[in-house]
Amino acid sequence: MNPFQFVRSLARLLRGRPQVPESLKDNLPLQTILQRRSVRGFSRRPIPLEVFDAILEAGRLAPSTVNLQSWSFGVFDASSWQETFRRPIPFKAHRAVIVMGDLHRVKNLVTDFPNSPLVDYTTAVMNASLAAMNMNLAAEALGVSSVMLSETGRTGLLDTAYLRDTLALPENVFPITTIVFGYAAGSYPPMPPKLPIDTISFSGKYREADPAVMADWLLQMKAGYKASHLNSSFEAQLKIYQSKIGKAEQDLRQMVLGE
Ligand SMILES: Cc1cc2nc3c(=O)[nH]c(=O)nc-3n(C[C@H](O)[C@H](O)[C@H](O)COP(=O)(O)O)c2cc1C
Repeated sequence: MNPFQFVRSLARLLRGRPQVPESLKDNLPLQTILQRRSVRGFSRRPIPLEVFDAILEAGRLAPSTVNLQSWSFGVFDASSWQETFRRPIPFKAHRAVIVMGDLHRVKNLVTDFPNSPLVDYTTAVMNASLAAMNMNLAAEALGVSSVMLSETGRTGLLDTAYLRDTLALPENVFPITTIVFGYAAGSYPPMPPKLPIDTISFSGKYREADPAVMADWLLQMKAGYKASHLNSSFEAQLKIYQSKIGKAEQDLRQMVLGE
Protein backbone atom coordinates (compact mmCIF):
# COMPACT_ATOMS: atom_id res chain seq x y z
CA MET A 1 0.00 0.00 0.00
CA ASN A 2 1.55 3.30 -1.06
CA PRO A 3 1.37 6.43 1.17
CA PHE A 4 -1.39 7.97 -0.96
CA GLN A 5 -3.54 4.82 -0.64
CA PHE A 6 -2.84 4.76 3.11
CA VAL A 7 -4.00 8.33 3.71
CA ARG A 8 -7.03 8.01 1.43
CA SER A 9 -8.10 4.69 2.98
CA LEU A 10 -7.62 5.95 6.52
CA ALA A 11 -9.70 9.04 5.75
CA ARG A 12 -12.47 6.86 4.33
CA LEU A 13 -12.35 4.57 7.36
CA LEU A 14 -12.61 7.48 9.79
CA ARG A 15 -15.67 8.80 7.95
CA GLY A 16 -17.55 5.51 8.46
CA ARG A 17 -20.77 5.95 10.46
CA PRO A 18 -23.84 3.81 11.15
CA GLN A 19 -26.49 4.53 8.51
CA VAL A 20 -29.76 5.33 10.29
CA PRO A 21 -32.72 7.40 9.10
CA GLU A 22 -32.95 10.73 10.95
CA SER A 23 -36.32 9.72 12.45
CA LEU A 24 -34.76 6.71 14.26
CA LYS A 25 -31.58 8.34 15.52
CA ASP A 26 -32.90 8.87 19.06
CA ASN A 27 -33.95 5.27 19.57
CA LEU A 28 -31.80 4.16 22.53
CA PRO A 29 -31.78 0.37 21.99
CA LEU A 30 -30.83 0.97 18.35
CA GLN A 31 -28.09 3.38 19.37
CA THR A 32 -26.73 0.78 21.79
CA ILE A 33 -26.52 -1.80 19.02
CA LEU A 34 -25.01 0.53 16.43
CA GLN A 35 -22.52 2.28 18.68
CA ARG A 36 -21.12 -0.90 20.26
CA ARG A 37 -17.45 -1.40 19.47
CA SER A 38 -14.99 -4.10 20.41
CA VAL A 39 -12.95 -2.47 23.18
CA ARG A 40 -9.45 -3.64 24.05
CA GLY A 41 -8.42 -1.23 26.79
CA PHE A 42 -10.12 -1.06 30.19
CA SER A 43 -9.94 1.19 33.23
CA ARG A 44 -9.47 -0.18 36.75
CA ARG A 45 -13.05 0.70 37.70
CA PRO A 46 -14.76 -2.52 38.85
CA ILE A 47 -18.09 -3.66 37.45
CA PRO A 48 -20.68 -3.73 40.29
CA LEU A 49 -21.95 -7.23 40.96
CA GLU A 50 -25.57 -6.36 40.16
CA VAL A 51 -24.50 -4.98 36.77
CA PHE A 52 -22.52 -8.10 35.97
CA ASP A 53 -25.40 -10.31 37.13
CA ALA A 54 -27.74 -8.44 34.76
CA ILE A 55 -25.31 -9.16 31.89
CA LEU A 56 -25.37 -12.88 32.73
CA GLU A 57 -29.17 -12.74 32.95
CA ALA A 58 -29.26 -11.41 29.37
CA GLY A 59 -27.24 -14.47 28.34
CA ARG A 60 -29.53 -16.83 30.23
CA LEU A 61 -32.62 -15.44 28.50
CA ALA A 62 -31.27 -15.60 24.93
CA PRO A 63 -33.27 -17.43 22.25
CA SER A 64 -32.24 -20.98 21.28
CA THR A 65 -33.40 -23.80 19.00
CA VAL A 66 -36.30 -25.66 20.67
CA ASN A 67 -35.44 -23.63 23.78
CA LEU A 68 -32.61 -26.13 24.38
CA GLN A 69 -30.44 -23.43 26.01
CA SER A 70 -27.46 -25.39 24.76
CA TRP A 71 -24.79 -23.23 26.37
CA SER A 72 -22.67 -22.96 29.49
CA PHE A 73 -20.92 -19.87 30.77
CA GLY A 74 -17.54 -20.09 32.48
CA VAL A 75 -17.67 -17.03 34.75
CA PHE A 76 -14.47 -15.42 36.02
CA ASP A 77 -13.19 -12.43 37.94
CA ALA A 78 -9.54 -11.38 37.84
CA SER A 79 -8.44 -13.74 40.62
CA SER A 80 -10.34 -16.86 39.51
CA TRP A 81 -9.04 -16.29 35.95
CA GLN A 82 -5.46 -15.92 37.22
CA GLU A 83 -5.83 -19.07 39.33
CA THR A 84 -7.23 -21.06 36.40
CA PHE A 85 -5.07 -19.82 33.50
CA ARG A 86 -1.97 -18.49 35.29
CA ARG A 87 -2.21 -15.15 33.49
CA PRO A 88 -4.35 -11.99 33.76
CA ILE A 89 -7.62 -11.60 31.90
CA PRO A 90 -6.74 -10.36 28.37
CA PHE A 91 -6.56 -6.56 28.04
CA LYS A 92 -6.68 -6.32 31.86
CA ALA A 93 -10.45 -6.59 31.73
CA HIS A 94 -12.38 -6.81 34.98
CA ARG A 95 -14.56 -9.86 34.23
CA ALA A 96 -14.61 -12.65 31.67
CA VAL A 97 -17.16 -15.16 30.47
CA ILE A 98 -16.12 -18.16 28.39
CA VAL A 99 -19.20 -19.02 26.35
CA MET A 100 -19.53 -22.69 25.47
CA GLY A 101 -21.97 -24.57 23.32
CA ASP A 102 -23.31 -27.32 25.59
CA LEU A 103 -25.41 -30.29 24.47
CA HIS A 104 -24.12 -32.43 27.34
CA ARG A 105 -27.01 -31.57 29.70
CA VAL A 106 -29.74 -32.21 27.14
CA LYS A 107 -28.15 -35.41 25.85
CA ASN A 108 -28.05 -36.77 29.40
CA LEU A 109 -31.76 -36.07 29.74
CA VAL A 110 -33.02 -37.15 26.32
CA THR A 111 -31.13 -40.33 25.64
CA ASP A 112 -32.52 -41.13 22.17
CA PHE A 113 -30.94 -38.00 20.68
CA PRO A 114 -29.71 -39.00 17.18
CA ASN A 115 -25.95 -39.09 16.62
CA SER A 116 -25.53 -36.02 14.43
CA PRO A 117 -22.22 -34.36 15.31
CA LEU A 118 -22.29 -31.62 12.67
CA VAL A 119 -25.87 -30.60 13.39
CA ASP A 120 -25.15 -30.75 17.14
CA TYR A 121 -22.06 -28.62 16.77
CA THR A 122 -23.82 -26.09 14.55
CA THR A 123 -26.72 -25.88 16.99
CA ALA A 124 -24.34 -25.40 19.90
CA VAL A 125 -22.36 -22.71 18.06
CA MET A 126 -25.48 -20.89 16.92
CA ASN A 127 -27.21 -20.83 20.29
CA ALA A 128 -24.10 -20.01 22.31
CA SER A 129 -23.26 -17.18 19.90
CA LEU A 130 -26.69 -15.67 20.44
CA ALA A 131 -26.22 -15.85 24.21
CA ALA A 132 -22.80 -14.21 23.80
CA MET A 133 -24.26 -11.38 21.72
CA ASN A 134 -27.08 -10.86 24.25
CA MET A 135 -24.47 -10.43 27.00
CA ASN A 136 -22.40 -8.16 24.80
CA LEU A 137 -25.34 -5.86 24.09
CA ALA A 138 -26.66 -5.92 27.66
CA ALA A 139 -23.21 -4.84 28.81
CA GLU A 140 -23.16 -2.02 26.29
CA ALA A 141 -26.61 -0.89 27.43
CA LEU A 142 -25.28 -0.72 31.00
CA GLY A 143 -22.20 1.28 30.01
CA VAL A 144 -19.86 -1.72 30.21
CA SER A 145 -17.62 -2.42 27.20
CA SER A 146 -16.41 -5.77 25.97
CA VAL A 147 -14.66 -7.69 23.25
CA MET A 148 -15.22 -11.27 22.12
CA LEU A 149 -12.06 -13.34 21.69
CA SER A 150 -11.21 -16.42 19.71
CA GLU A 151 -7.49 -16.56 20.33
CA THR A 152 -6.00 -13.83 22.50
CA GLY A 153 -4.80 -15.31 25.79
CA ARG A 154 -5.57 -18.91 24.78
CA THR A 155 -9.23 -18.73 25.52
CA GLY A 156 -11.65 -19.41 22.68
CA LEU A 157 -12.60 -21.39 19.60
CA LEU A 158 -8.93 -21.69 18.63
CA ASP A 159 -8.04 -23.30 21.97
CA THR A 160 -10.74 -25.92 22.36
CA ALA A 161 -8.51 -28.79 23.51
CA TYR A 162 -6.63 -26.56 25.97
CA LEU A 163 -9.92 -25.33 27.42
CA ARG A 164 -11.41 -28.83 27.50
CA ASP A 165 -8.43 -30.02 29.56
CA THR A 166 -8.12 -26.94 31.78
CA LEU A 167 -11.83 -26.67 32.57
CA ALA A 168 -12.50 -30.44 32.61
CA LEU A 169 -15.21 -30.12 29.96
CA PRO A 170 -17.23 -33.27 29.25
CA GLU A 171 -18.14 -34.49 25.75
CA ASN A 172 -20.50 -32.27 23.76
CA VAL A 173 -19.29 -29.06 25.39
CA PHE A 174 -17.49 -26.80 22.90
CA PRO A 175 -15.75 -23.52 23.78
CA ILE A 176 -16.98 -20.87 21.35
CA THR A 177 -15.75 -17.48 22.48
CA THR A 178 -14.49 -15.60 25.49
CA ILE A 179 -16.01 -12.22 26.28
CA VAL A 180 -13.99 -9.89 28.47
CA PHE A 181 -15.79 -7.00 30.16
CA GLY A 182 -14.82 -3.71 31.75
CA TYR A 183 -15.26 0.04 31.62
CA ALA A 184 -13.49 1.49 28.57
CA ALA A 185 -10.21 3.22 29.40
CA GLY A 186 -10.76 6.00 26.87
CA SER A 187 -13.02 6.92 24.00
CA TYR A 188 -14.22 4.22 21.63
CA PRO A 189 -12.07 3.23 18.65
CA PRO A 190 -13.39 4.27 15.24
CA MET A 191 -15.81 1.91 13.53
CA PRO A 192 -13.80 -0.62 11.50
CA PRO A 193 -14.74 -0.70 7.79
CA LYS A 194 -18.13 -2.39 7.43
CA LEU A 195 -19.21 -3.63 4.00
CA PRO A 196 -22.13 -1.78 2.35
CA ILE A 197 -25.57 -3.36 2.68
CA ASP A 198 -25.83 -4.09 -1.07
CA THR A 199 -22.57 -6.07 -0.87
CA ILE A 200 -23.78 -8.33 1.91
CA SER A 201 -27.42 -8.74 0.88
CA PHE A 202 -29.34 -9.88 -2.17
CA SER A 203 -32.87 -10.51 -3.25
CA GLY A 204 -33.50 -13.57 -5.45
CA LYS A 205 -30.28 -15.24 -6.56
CA TYR A 206 -26.92 -14.77 -4.83
CA ARG A 207 -25.09 -11.63 -5.92
CA GLU A 208 -21.29 -11.61 -6.21
CA ALA A 209 -19.62 -8.68 -4.45
CA ASP A 210 -18.16 -5.90 -6.56
CA PRO A 211 -14.35 -6.55 -6.59
CA ALA A 212 -13.68 -2.79 -6.33
CA VAL A 213 -15.75 -2.58 -3.13
CA MET A 214 -13.89 -5.57 -1.66
CA ALA A 215 -10.49 -4.13 -2.64
CA ASP A 216 -11.45 -0.84 -1.00
CA TRP A 217 -12.48 -2.66 2.18
CA LEU A 218 -9.13 -4.51 2.30
CA LEU A 219 -7.20 -1.25 1.91
CA GLN A 220 -9.18 0.30 4.76
CA MET A 221 -8.52 -2.76 6.96
CA LYS A 222 -4.78 -2.53 6.24
CA ALA A 223 -4.69 1.23 6.79
CA GLY A 224 -6.66 0.98 10.04
CA TYR A 225 -4.39 -1.75 11.33
CA LYS A 226 -1.25 0.13 10.40
CA ALA A 227 -2.50 3.27 12.12
CA SER A 228 -3.24 1.45 15.39
CA HIS A 229 -0.35 -1.08 15.45
CA LEU A 230 2.84 0.79 14.54
CA ASN A 231 5.05 -2.31 14.80
CA SER A 232 2.77 -4.77 13.07
CA SER A 233 0.54 -5.08 10.01
CA PHE A 234 -2.78 -6.62 9.02
CA GLU A 235 -0.85 -9.23 6.99
CA ALA A 236 1.33 -10.13 10.02
CA GLN A 237 -1.77 -10.47 12.19
CA LEU A 238 -3.44 -12.72 9.59
CA LYS A 239 -0.30 -14.90 9.51
CA ILE A 240 -0.40 -15.34 13.30
CA TYR A 241 -4.07 -16.26 13.06
CA GLN A 242 -3.45 -18.70 10.19
CA SER A 243 -0.62 -20.35 12.10
CA LYS A 244 -3.08 -21.31 14.84
CA ILE A 245 -5.81 -22.61 12.60
CA GLY A 246 -4.19 -25.98 11.77
CA LYS A 247 -4.04 -27.06 15.41
CA ALA A 248 -7.53 -25.65 16.08
CA GLU A 249 -8.93 -27.63 13.13
CA GLN A 250 -7.34 -30.84 14.45
CA ASP A 251 -8.69 -30.23 17.96
CA LEU A 252 -12.19 -29.59 16.68
CA ARG A 253 -12.21 -32.63 14.40
CA GLN A 254 -11.27 -34.73 17.38
CA MET A 255 -13.80 -33.13 19.73
CA VAL A 256 -16.72 -32.83 17.32
CA LEU A 257 -16.27 -35.74 14.92
CA GLY A 258 -14.20 -38.08 17.12
CA GLU A 259 -11.51 -38.33 14.38
C1 LIG B 1 -16.35 -14.72 17.65
C2 LIG B 1 -15.42 -13.53 17.67
C3 LIG B 1 -14.09 -13.72 17.96
C4 LIG B 1 -13.22 -12.63 18.03
N1 LIG B 1 -11.91 -12.84 18.36
C5 LIG B 1 -11.09 -11.78 18.59
C6 LIG B 1 -9.76 -11.99 19.09
O1 LIG B 1 -9.32 -13.11 19.31
N2 LIG B 1 -8.99 -10.90 19.33
C7 LIG B 1 -9.47 -9.62 19.12
O2 LIG B 1 -8.74 -8.66 19.37
N3 LIG B 1 -10.73 -9.39 18.64
C8 LIG B 1 -11.56 -10.44 18.37
N4 LIG B 1 -12.84 -10.24 17.93
C9 LIG B 1 -13.35 -8.87 17.71
C10 LIG B 1 -13.38 -8.54 16.22
O3 LIG B 1 -12.07 -8.27 15.79
C11 LIG B 1 -14.31 -7.34 16.01
O4 LIG B 1 -15.63 -7.72 16.33
C12 LIG B 1 -14.28 -6.85 14.56
O5 LIG B 1 -13.02 -6.31 14.25
C13 LIG B 1 -15.34 -5.77 14.30
O6 LIG B 1 -15.19 -4.69 15.20
P1 LIG B 1 -16.40 -4.21 16.11
O7 LIG B 1 -16.73 -5.35 17.05
O8 LIG B 1 -15.90 -3.00 16.84
O9 LIG B 1 -17.55 -3.92 15.19
C14 LIG B 1 -13.71 -11.32 17.78
C15 LIG B 1 -15.07 -11.14 17.46
C16 LIG B 1 -15.91 -12.23 17.40
C17 LIG B 1 -17.37 -12.01 17.09
